Amino acid sequence: MAALQGRDFLSSADITPEQTQALLALASDLKAGRTRIDLSGRSLGLIFSKASTRTRVSFTVAMARLGGQTIDLNPQVSQVGRGEPVADTARVLSRYVDALAIRTFAQEELQEYAHWASIPVINALTDLEHPCQALADYLTLQERFGAVEGLTLAYVGDGNNVAHSLMLCGALLGVNVRVGCPQGYAPSPAVLQQAQQLAGDRCRIEVVHEPVAAVRGAQALYTDVWASMGQEEEKGARERAFAGWCLNEELLAEADGRAIVLHCLPAYRGLEISAGAMEGSSSRIFDQAENRLHAQQALLGALLGGCQP
Ligand code: CP
Ligand code: NVA
Repeated sequence: MAALQGRDFLSSADITPEQTQALLALASDLKAGRTRIDLSGRSLGLIFSKASTRTRVSFTVAMARLGGQTIDLNPQVSQVGRGEPVADTARVLSRYVDALAIRTFAQEELQEYAHWASIPVINALTDLEHPCQALADYLTLQERFGAVEGLTLAYVGDGNNVAHSLMLCGALLGVNVRVGCPQGYAPSPAVLQQAQQLAGDRCRIEVVHEPVAAVRGAQALYTDVWASMGQEEEKGARERAFAGWCLNEELLAEADGRAIVLHCLPAYRGLEISAGAMEGSSSRIFDQAENRLHAQQALLGALLGGCQP
């Protein structure tokens, strides 16, 4: 874990399988009150170019609980919105704060921040990935089944940022990840290939184009919005393309009897998920949202070096 100190977390694949497991174990210990992290006097800057409830609040509360603080540096309130270059912003902020959590569109912009900043940069969601979300998701799966290796997580819906991080992080943890999506909405082939390489012979990362084939026998059913932030104009076309892809009780009946239902939220009931699946006894969606807080405390402790020896 000490090897993570000072590092960036731009992608689920930035860390090793052992580090991923260690972060989940630390998050679990923090949640149970078995360990403490001290980040007193430390500051996290939040640069969010897209809306957020969970990520913004969980990072803010995580820092407060660890004795540190967050500073909102949204483009609207900083000089970023007026065009100050990333190269200048990143170098200046590195003189004030101890880490940056950035939510933006292009992964390349995040990488540019990381290039210029001398402090850890955390991906708080880009169009390509949502790695903090995946940590909380696998923590939720681990809480339900004790260990995640060998389990199957079925993701039904758009092959988007959330799907990408689930594939990469799942590969590191030995989880079979089956992405079910309509033709034309598959995950990035490059990410699929990367995840399959990381998985090796340990687990299977695959894409299928039929909902029942995706979920059959799985221990977790996961979905996300059909139109992500930045795709608002495609909403109507996407709703037509995704007809028949709702994560509902019928689909749940095809999964393992112990399966849990997950959604990163925000959710649109009646579109990608039925109200029944969301509120039913298999749902762990609100535990999953809570776990953002615990997983990110672990991540901040590791990157900022606040963990107990
Ligand atoms: N799941 C998630 O990242 O939610 P927010 O967009 O509210 O942060
Ligand atoms: N895929 C969604 C996730 C929101 C947390 C989006 O990018 O809008």
